[in-house]
Amino acid sequence: MTKTILVVGGAGYIGSHTYVELLAAGYDAVIVDDFSNAEQRVIDRLVELTGHSVRLYEGDAADPRFMRSVFEAESGLTGAIHFAAYKAVGESVREPLRYYRNNIDSMLVLLQTMADFDVPDLVFSSSCTVYGVPDELPVTEMTPRKDAHSPYGNTKRICEDIIRDAVTGGNHLKAVLLRYFNPIGAHPSALIGELPIGVPNNLVPFVTQTAAGIRPELTIFGDNYETFDGTCIRDYIHVVDLARAHVKSLDYLEGVDGRGCCEAINVGTGRGNSVMEVVQTFEQVAGVSLNYKIGPPRAGDVPAIYANADKARYLLGWESQLTLEDALRDAWRWQGMLSTKEKE
Ligand code: UFG
Repeated sequence: MTKTILVVGGAGYIGSHTYVELLAAGYDAVIVDDFSNAEQRVIDRLVELTGHSVRLYEGDAADPRFMRSVFEAESGLTGAIHFAAYKAVGESVREPLRYYRNNIDSMLVLLQTMADFDVPDLVFSSSCTVYGVPDELPVTEMTPRKDAHSPYGNTKRICEDIIRDAVTGGNHLKAVLLRYFNPIGAHPSALIGELPIGVPNNLVPFVTQTAAGIRPELTIFGDNYETFDGTCIRDYIHVVDLARAHVKSLDYLEGVDGRGCCEAINVGTGRGNSVMEVVQTFEQVAGVSLNYKIGPPRAGDVPAIYANADKARYLLGWESQLTLEDALRDAWRWQGMLSTKEKE
C-alpha cells in the first residue's frame, strides 16, 4: 500500500528536495506551506521534476484549525516531516518571539494533530547546532547537547525535547530527529535549490552570488582558528543526500515494531572541510577566481564541527553519496539558473 507523507514546509529548500525523493522512492506526498520563505514557482518545478500534480495546502502550520482541515482532507496520511521552521540565526536573536512562536507552535500543532488522527511516523529537522561547541570530534549522537547560542538553536533543542516527551508519553508516535550538518547544493537538474532572501547568511549562497557578480566580495570570517588552515571547519552535506535521509527515516519508522521510538541521528558526510577548502574547491569546479578577503571572526561561530555518521549507516542504511565537488557544482549551476531568470 502506498504511504502518504505530509511534508510541512515542502516548498522550502530542503522540503522541496525531499518531496522529489519521496516520490522517486514510491511514497505519495502532500505539501503544506505558507510561502513565507518559499516561492510559488517551486510547485511548478516539482510538477516538472516528478511528472505528477502537487497536492498543496497553503496556510500556517501553527494554526490548529488549518492543520486539522488538512488531516481531514487527507485521511490516508501515514507520516509527516516537519520542515516549517525559520532558520536565520542572527534574525532569531533580533526577533526571538517570532522564532519561538513559529518553530515551536508549528511543532506542537503537528504533534497534536498527528495524535488526534492517529498518524504515527514523524521526521523532524533538527540541527548540529544542538551540540554547541563540542568537546569531542567527530560528534556522535551521544555527544552531550549544549546550551543553545541563539533562539533558533534553542527552538531545535526544545522541539527535540517536546517530541521525545510526546513519544514517551504514549501518544502513539514514532520519531526520527535528523540532526543536519551544513546542507548545501541544489538538485542536479537546477530546477530547485536554495532561494536566499536578501543578503545570504550562509557560506555557499554567498560564494555563488559573489562569483555571479551579485556581491562584490566574500568575507571569510576569521583565519586564526585552531584548525589546520585557520578557517572554520564544517561538514557540508549535499541537499539531495540529506533529502534521501528523510526517505530512509520513514522506511525505518515503518519497520519499527510498536510505537514509542525516538532516535536522534546525525546527517553529515563524516568529513570536515575548512572555509578555505570550500572556496578553493568552488574555484576549481566553477572555473572562476573568487574575490574574497579575510575578515574578523563572526560572533557565535563554532571553530570546528563534523559528524560521526555511523548511526545513520547502521540504523537507516543511509550514507552520503555525493561529494563537496558535486554540491558546489550543483550550487553553481543553480545560481546560473537564478541569474538567468533575473535577467529575463
Ligand atoms: N562563512 C564565511 N563567510 C560568509 C558566510 C559564512 O566565512 O559570508 C563561514 C562561517 O564563518 C562558517 C562557515 O562559513 O565558518 C559556514 O557558515 P554558514 O553560515 O554557512 O553555516 P553555519 O555553520 O554557521 O550554520 C549552519 C546552519 C545553521 C545551524 C548551524 C549549526 O546554517 O542553521 O550550522 O552549527 F544552526
